Amino acid sequence: MCGITGYVGGREKSVRLVLDNLKKLEYRGYDSAGVAVVAADTHDVTVLKRQGKLGNLEAALDGLGAARGTVIAHTRWATHGRPSDGNAHPHCDCTGRIALIHNGIIENYLSLKERLLAEGHVFHSDTDTEVLAHLIESHLKRNGGKMEMAVRGALAEVTGAYAVCVVSEQEPETIYAAKTASPLIIGLGEGENFLASDIPAVMGHTRRVLVLEDGDFARITPDGVTLTTVAGEPITRDEFAVTWDVRTAEKGGYPHFMLKEIHDQPQTIRDTLRGRVTEGNQITFPELKLPTAKLLDFHRIVIVACGTAYHAGMVGKSFYEHLLRRPVEVQVASEFRYNDPIVDQHTLAIIISQSGETADTLAALREAKVKGATTLAIVNVVGSSIAREADEVIYTYAGLEISVASTKAYVSQLIALYLIGLYIAQQENKLDREVVAAYVEQLKALPRQVAQILTQADAIAELARPLAHSSSFFFLGRGFDYAVALEAALKLKEVSYIHAEAYAAGEMKHGPLALVEPGVSVVCFATQSALYDKMLSNVKEVKARDGAAIAVVKEGDEGLDARSVDSVIRIPGTHDTFMPVLAIIPAQLLAYHIAAALGREIDQPRNLAKSVTVE
Ligand code: AGP
Repeated sequence: MCGITGYVGGREKSVRLVLDNLKKLEYRGYDSAGVAVVAADTHDVTVLKRQGKLGNLEAALDGLGAARGTVIAHTRWATHGRPSDGNAHPHCDCTGRIALIHNGIIENYLSLKERLLAEGHVFHSDTDTEVLAHLIESHLKRNGGKMEMAVRGALAEVTGAYAVCVVSEQEPETIYAAKTASPLIIGLGEGENFLASDIPAVMGHTRRVLVLEDGDFARITPDGVTLTTVAGEPITRDEFAVTWDVRTAEKGGYPHFMLKEIHDQPQTIRDTLRGRVTEGNQITFPELKLPTAKLLDFHRIVIVACGTAYHAGMVGKSFYEHLLRRPVEVQVASEFRYNDPIVDQHTLAIIISQSGETADTLAALREAKVKGATTLAIVNVVGSSIAREADEVIYTYAGLEISVASTKAYVSQLIALYLIGLYIAQQENKLDREVVAAYVEQLKALPRQVAQILTQADAIAELARPLAHSSSFFFLGRGFDYAVALEAALKLKEVSYIHAEAYAAGEMKHGPLALVEPGVSVVCFATQSALYDKMLSNVKEVKARDGAAIAVVKEGDEGLDARSVDSVIRIPGTHDTFMPVLAIIPAQLLAYHIAAALGREIDQPRNLAKSVTVE
C-alpha cells in the first residue's frame, strides 16, 4: 500500500532526508514515487514524480536533491489509474500552488470530479486523489483564501479512506494532515517535525511519535502540532516512545510479517468491502463493465486458481451453488488447461490470484479466453499480468502481503467471492433487497468478529506449543468447513513443515482413520449448523483412536467440550456460508505458533516462493 513521508523544519537537503525516510517504507510495496517541496527561500512548489522504483525518482532529482524546505513524498500502490508518472503522487490543483499526497480511496471521487470539471478545473491524471487537490482549490476560492478552512472543507466532502498530507505556497512552513482508515503518524522533533505512514520511516530522527486516529486533523509546523477533528474540535493524543528496533517496527511490532498480516485482517475485510456496499446495503461494483444481461446469461461458472486462492475458490463454489443454483466447477490452475476444460462463450471463468502473476493461473486465464469464456479476475496486485489480461478485474485491496504463507489475501478473496455471488443474485432478482441487506449486514460484522477471535491469540499460542510435537495433523470438516480444513492444512504444512492432510470428515473411515494414533493431532471444524451432529460422530471416531482432538466451534454450541475433545476454540457465529472467514483465523494462529515453537523461517519457508512464476 502507499507510503507517505513528510518534513517541516530548517534542515539542509530536506528533500534527500524525506526520500531516505521513504526508503524505510519500501517493504509496503509500490509502483511509482514522487516528491513535492515548498522551497524555503522562494516558496515555490516543485513536484517530481516517476514510475517505478525510488531509484528512478532519485536519478531525476538534479538540483532538487539539494533543495531545502517543507517536503512531502509518496510511494504509490496503484488503485485508480495504472502505474505511470502522471498517476504518481503528489497531485496539484490547477495553479500548481497546492500539492498533496494520499493513501486510501476516495469513494465519491467521480461525482466530485464531475462538479469540479463543470467549475472549469483541469485534471492531469486518472486518480481519485487529484480530485482532492482541486477540491481544496475550489474551497480556497470560495472562502477568500483561507488554506486551513479549505483543507477542512474539502475533507468534509470526501467519503472513503485516506491518510492525506497537503502543502502550499501560501503557508510554506505548514503541512496539513488528516486520516481516516489509512495509517498516519507524526514524529516529533526539536524545531522540526516528521510525518509518515509508518513508524520505521521516522526512527532515524526521533523516537517520539503521535499515532493519529480516524477523524484526526493535524496542522504541523516546525514548532508544533495542533490536533483537532476535521470539523475543528480540539483533541489530544498521547505521545508514544518507540522502543523497538527498525525491523520489528516494519512488522508493526510483531515478530513476523505472517503474524502482523493475521492481525491486519479486520482492516483487510473493511478494505475489500469498501466501495462495494451501498448505503442501503446492496452490492455495487462500479469497476465492472459487464452488462447485466451478459452476467445472467452464463450457463456455468468455472473458478480457477492455485494453492490458497484455490481453497478460496472452493468456498466460492459452495456459496454460488447455494445462492445461484447454477453449476460451478473449481479447478486447480495447473490441471485446467490439460483437462480439455468444458468452457465456451456461455461460461464465466473466475480467476483468483493474490499476485496476479502465478504462471499456471495466467495460462488458465489465457486458455479460458481462447475457448470463448468471459474472464473475471479476483486479484490483489494492481496492474499485474492477470489483472491486465482478464476481461474484468475485481481487486481485493488486501495491501502488500509479505509472508509467503497467505493469510489476509485469502480472507480478502473470500470477501470478494461473496460479494460477486451476492451481486449476481441481486442482479438476477434471485434475492429480495432485504435478504441481500441481511447478508451484507453479516459481512459488515465480520471485521469486529475477526478482531474478537484475535483477542484469543495468546490462548491459541498456549494451545499450539505442545502440538508442535505432533507427528502429523489431520484437518477435518464438512461442507464449507471442508474448504477451511484444506486451507488450514496448507497453512500448517507451509510454515511448520509438519505433515498435514485435510479430509472431508466423512471420508476418514474410508481409509485415513488407520493413521490416527497417539501423537497424531486432529483439528475438527464444526461450524456448520446442519452438519454439527455428524461432526460430533467424526470427532468421537478420532478420540476412540487416541488422537489429540482440537475442535473449532461456534459460541453456544456446547456438544463438544473438554469431556469430548482435548481443546475447544470457540468463535463467534455468522451465516454458515460466511463461517470460513472466522474459522480460518484460529487455524492461521495455530499454524503460526506451532511454526514459531519449532523455530521455523516463518515468513520465508524453505522451498517456497511468494509468487510462482514458473510452471
Ligand atoms: C499460500 O499460502 C501459498 N503461498 C500459495 O498456495 C499461493 O496461494 C499460490 O501460490 C497462489 O498464489 P497467487 O494467489 O499469487 O496466484
